Amino acid sequence: MSQQTFVAGTAPGAAPVVGHAWQMMRRPLQFMSSLSAHGDMVKIRIGTTTAYVPCHPELLRQILKSDRVYDKGGTFYDRARDIAGNGLVTCPFSDHRRQRRLMQSAFTRPQLKRYSTAMHAEIDATTARWQDGAVVDAFPEMYGMALRTVGRTLYSTPVSKEMAEGVERAFDTVLNGLFRQMFLPEALRRLPTPANRRYRENLRYLHATTQNLIDDYRRDDTDHDDLLSALLASRDEDGGRLDDKEIHDQVITVMAAGTETVAGTLTWIFHLLSVHPGIEAQLYDEIDTVLGGKPPNWDDLPQLSLTDRIITETLRLYPPAWLFTRLTASEVEVAGIRLPQGTTVVFSPAAVAHDTDAYPDERRFDPDRWLPDRVTPLARQAFMPFGTGARKCIGDLYARTEATLALATILSRWRVTCEPDADIRPVPLATVYHPRRLRLRLAARTPGR
Ligand code: HEM
Repeated sequence: MSQQTFVAGTAPGAAPVVGHAWQMMRRPLQFMSSLSAHGDMVKIRIGTTTAYVPCHPELLRQILKSDRVYDKGGTFYDRARDIAGNGLVTCPFSDHRRQRRLMQSAFTRPQLKRYSTAMHAEIDATTARWQDGAVVDAFPEMYGMALRTVGRTLYSTPVSKEMAEGVERAFDTVLNGLFRQMFLPEALRRLPTPANRRYRENLRYLHATTQNLIDDYRRDDTDHDDLLSALLASRDEDGGRLDDKEIHDQVITVMAAGTETVAGTLTWIFHLLSVHPGIEAQLYDEIDTVLGGKPPNWDDLPQLSLTDRIITETLRLYPPAWLFTRLTASEVEVAGIRLPQGTTVVFSPAAVAHDTDAYPDERRFDPDRWLPDRVTPLARQAFMPFGTGARKCIGDLYARTEATLALATILSRWRVTCEPDADIRPVPLATVYHPRRLRLRLAARTPGR
């Protein structure tokens, strides 16, 4: 088989001092998807750091699959490790295989089926608080729902309202501070400014609360039928298990990785439906026909196929996890260029999401491009909002299950319209790509109307 050749290039428009950081901050997806016009492996500059972005789907796959050479590391992961320690997202290659094996048993289909009941209960509780005619802020509302959902699937034992709210607040502050912390030099991060103090205090609170929850479960040793119990019970072939520090890091990792991403996806779906009324009408139809007015459950998921295609197409056009980095662990040659050890490689699903071979009419929101008789191997291969290779998102099915249950529950009971004051420019310095303002008006509905 002949090896495909890739072409290297350089992104134009680097400004003095900041390089391309300004463009990345202001119009992240547009910037990332514009790079493929300059080559398959494109050099950019972020401040003083030179980085390379793979912009050809096949090259991106090859790089993501070489996780020994392209390892986790660099500023982003250093800051993320403040929050999530050496958990599955942040750990280096040397720790990854073992951790992944031990985590996998908490993310099997039978486990997800068990979590789906808790997911639905939380979604139901959130939407039960809504009032006919009310207007809610989409991202914060979806974020709260997703955080409580992941909390409930992790830890099914009821916690006090005070604690649940405390964790929600702490998580908010920590995740919001993450990107800011990433860009601040060490000396500024250490200053006792109110923002730095708030970040540290909330981080401490989060770590202490998580440890208390783990200690509780360790003490009573029962299977609570949830994610934390699955992690505590997990053993590898040699009987090895995750120790307390590792469990702690995985709990925070799962909460951090599984909250904003799902909330961002749902928020973009509401926006896309509002500008594609024909698809929106078909979605209401599907939900009414499949559910016939009853609450959705795990067994309904295969029938909600348009819902699933809408989720897929939204993730292609608006990948919430839009930026990741790797550091080369050894010298490597790629697309005819030699990258020394320690070179930063930036990857974004958006850099390949508009590949015209994979996606004809690439900018169009067309959920039906994922119909079994239309989808092509190229389209599947260029679809990387969950990454690929050994470090592919372990929560992809979790996320799809939650998003499907959320959409089906919400739309079966509410007619959702977007208020005209939407501002869909992304929030600058947010870890996850989501609109600045999208408000949803809720009108109670009976299925079929
Ligand atoms: C739409 C929702 C989601 C998106 C778009 C998403 C995206 C991603 C991406 C791109 C990666 C790969 C990162 C890399 O290679 O550097 C990743 C990894 C990961 N995700 Fe997700 N994620 C989502 C939801 C979730 C959920 C719900 C969970 C858990 C409940 C989760 C847990 C993780 C973990 C633990 C990893 C690390 C996997 C490893 O390195 O082995 N994610 N995610």
